[in-house]
Amino acid sequence: MERVALVTGGSRGIGRAIAEALLRRGFRVAIASRQPQEAVAAWRAEGLPAHALAADLEREDLEALVARAAEALGGLHVLVHAAAVNVRKPALELSYEEWRRVLYLHLDAAFLLAKAAAPHMARAGWGRILFLGSVTTFTAGGPVPIPAYTTAKTALLGLTRALAKEWAPLGIRVNLLCPGYVETDFTLPVRQNPELSGPITARIPLGRWAKPEEIARVAAVLCGEEAEYLTGQAVVVDGGFLAY
Ligand SMILES: NC(=O)c1ccc[n+]([C@@H]2O[C@H](COP(=O)([O-])OP(=O)(O)OC[C@H]3O[C@@H](n4cnc5c(N)ncnc54)[C@H](OP(=O)(O)O)[C@@H]3O)[C@@H](O)[C@H]2O)c1
Repeated sequence: MERVALVTGGSRGIGRAIAEALLRRGFRVAIASRQPQEAVAAWRAEGLPAHALAADLEREDLEALVARAAEALGGLHVLVHAAAVNVRKPALELSYEEWRRVLYLHLDAAFLLAKAAAPHMARAGWGRILFLGSVTTFTAGGPVPIPAYTTAKTALLGLTRALAKEWAPLGIRVNLLCPGYVETDFTLPVRQNPELSGPITARIPLGRWAKPEEIARVAAVLCGEEAEYLTGQAVVVDGGFLAY
């Protein structure tokens, strides 16, 4: 059966790799981000059924965004929320607006998108929701203080468990994918500074950062038939970072 997916933050980084993994597995995929066109044009040039939804998730009505996706795709089976923002500041320097901005995009948006997507999945009797956590779901954060981000990523585990329990009878599986350190634009400020990146790399038993595709391969499993008996879980893909 053909499955259809909405991937937020699908234009770059991990979200883009996940969208592409789903497309190559035969899903039709809409990506929602501020600038989705380049990624979608590249996939379409290969004949892959991708749709662009230009949207700033910090400003957009997220219920309306899900409705747009469901209309473009003719339903909705899979939601992946991978849009990302961060403010790297110690708590004493972090304004309430900065705190709210990070909490909104990672946590509030996850709830609002999932709430809007679930009825479509329930109608199909089949759904997969994948939120993006992090190793900071389980730790105090990285070498630079990121208190709002860490709070959001930990809270997402609670949301994942609550929705997994509530929506299991509807055929919907809800999981939290927790990457370690991945080579994306998001981590450039850390990767470009050897004083920050060196200790991180030294703590990764596999000795290197992940490529987005390595995270996406696991995401594709969590979004597929293979995850039928897998819900409410944090799935860590970190090269052994947390085991160190
Ligand atoms: N990279 C890592 O090491 C790492 C580790 C653990 C967890 N994660 C998590 O993985 C997820 C993806 O991170 P990433 O590293 O792939 O980030 P990234 O490379 O910076 O990509 C961020 C994506 O979010 C979109 N985006 C940002 N602000 C948006 C907004 N206001 N409205 C709509 N879209 C927006 C961007 O697209 P546009 O510019 O087109 O809007 C882009 O597609 C995030 O949840 C992040 O916290 C990342």
